[in-house]
Amino acid sequence: MLLITPALAAGPAETAGTVTGKYVGPGGCAASSCHGSVQPKTVTRIFQNEYSIWIAQDKHARAFSVLSNPVSLRIGRILNIGRPDQAARCLVCHSLYVPSEQRVQIFEPDDGVSCESCHGPASGWLGPHTQRDWPHEKSVALGMYDTRNLTGRTEKCLTCHLGTAEKFVDHEMIAAGHPDLTFELALFTSVMPRHWKMPQSYETGAWRQVQAWGVGEAVQLRASLNRVSRRAKDAKGAWPEYAELDCFACHHSLTPALDSWRQERGYAGHRPGNPPWNQSREVIFRALVEEISPDAARQFNEEITRLANLMNQLNGNREEIGASADRAAALADQLGKQVEAQNYDAALTLRLLRRVARDGASIANEDERAAEQAAMTLDSLFTAYNQNVKPANGAEVRAAIDGLFQQLQNPSAYSAPKFAAQMQRVSELLGR
Ligand code: HEC
Ligand code: HEC
Ligand code: HEC
Ligand code: HEC
Repeated sequence: MLLITPALAAGPAETAGTVTGKYVGPGGCAASSCHGSVQPKTVTRIFQNEYSIWIAQDKHARAFSVLSNPVSLRIGRILNIGRPDQAARCLVCHSLYVPSEQRVQIFEPDDGVSCESCHGPASGWLGPHTQRDWPHEKSVALGMYDTRNLTGRTEKCLTCHLGTAEKFVDHEMIAAGHPDLTFELALFTSVMPRHWKMPQSYETGAWRQVQAWGVGEAVQLRASLNRVSRRAKDAKGAWPEYAELDCFACHHSLTPALDSWRQERGYAGHRPGNPPWNQSREVIFRALVEEISPDAARQFNEEITRLANLMNQLNGNREEIGASADRAAALADQLGKQVEAQNYDAALTLRLLRRVARDGASIANEDERAAEQAAMTLDSLFTAYNQNVKPANGAEVRAAIDGLFQQLQNPSAYSAPKFAAQMQRVSELLGR
């Protein structure tokens, strides 16, 4: 029986920002009486120092200037696109890059990723939203992007942190020098210098961070499946697209045969030597779905296994890959709604922590990226658990999780057995 009806899942490109207003540029938010106050104010629920935090501390404000650093200039030379700080191919993600007819006034790209890159075009709500007691919903109706909605927030981040049909980072760009794109909503949100209040009235309850992690994983998985489908179906695009595969299947250092953990592990599911599909996003999501909806997990796993078998062939049928990725994305979309509606508490958070840690060996054997996603997940989940429950051995667990990140510092020298051993340590501290 089909448990979930696959409807065509929309990727971030399709859902992010139906434009109902125009862009004014970050200068429109910078006045000290608006968001440019240096000290936080307490008159309204908005601190009004958002611009000051962003300009002084947020990497997004530097996103344009990195386009003229030596690495970028070299990327520009290798790809033959001229100066990156003038190339649409880079500006689309490193600045507020919108067509001139969608701009109220002329503004330069040199502000980097600015307010409206995340909050949407401001012309409709800029005036009225300063009124006392003006509701957030009215701004949203006038074109503000709803970053409070966790699904929408993730989709917005992923337009740049994973890419869309219009803007992307592929292996060609990575080989030229661009960092690979990885993401985990809860962690990336906590790394961003916070320019909003926490917790807020709508940030209901202590477990919102766990929900953010779950929704982030679901949306990220769906968006990455959309991307596989898009790339497989694009007859003009490079295929296989190496950026969809396990990076360190190709990029690891070789050892004497007897020392090789990869040979010791074997190559289940594909011909030895074929670079397998990067399943890091799916591996962690599976842990979540198995916890909250075991029946749906079975159906989802079947489709993912089918897709993996296709992706792990050197020349898998592109049409079949596209169709399978579409079905898997639709399932991930349905499951994502369940994940968002789920009630999170201490017990569920602990079960999730334990499950991911217990699966340590199989996650470790998957690939370095899966290990990385697991480390970010344990970090985010444990931060929430530790804050709310304060377990007696909190400092020890924290140190053990930090040990996971140490294992990832030199990815080409990644060792699955060592990572698995560290996961075992985390697992023992968390209890079974
Ligand atoms: C799909 C969106 C996207 C496109 C297109 C893109 N970038 Fe990036 N870029 C990012 C993101 C996101 C990061 C941050 C990655 C991270 O730290 O997780 C980044 C980081 C970088 C960095 C590292 C910055 C640092 O602080 O060290 C450089 C350099 C860079 N990009 C240059 C370029 C150049 C040059 C181009 C055009 C050829 C380009 N980018 C196109 C999204 C993009
Ligand atoms: C990289 C994305 C990003 C950028 C750039 C950004 N924000 Fe935000 N902003 C967020 C997120 C995420 C939140 C938290 C969720 C929320 O409250 O909407 C937030 C929250 C806010 C809030 C609190 C909203 C509320 O109702 O409590 C204000 C005000 C705000 N941002 C203003 C700004 C201003 C002004 C700028 C530019 C100087 C800016 N933001 C740039 C992502 C961003
Ligand atoms: C318009 C494109 C864009 C959007 C939307 C966007 N980012 Fe970014 N983000 C970037 C780029 C480009 C960089 C790299 C900037 C640099 O290194 O100077 C970056 C860097 C970051 C970093 C720093 C990473 C590091 O290695 O230090 C964090 C954290 C981050 N983004 C979180 C978020 C979150 C959370 C959201 C959604 C609320 C978001 N971003 C939305 C483009 C974007
Ligand atoms: C199928 C094998 C394969 C996969 C999978 C693969 N690459 Fe590569 N990569 C290559 C080859 C081949 C080159 C070119 C090496 C050369 O010319 O010396 C390369 C080049 C690179 C370079 C530049 C090399 C250097 O010495 O500076 C980087 C960085 C890189 N890849 C990162 C990645 C990342 C990150 C991923 C995963 C998202 C990835 N690669 C996936 C085969 C692969």
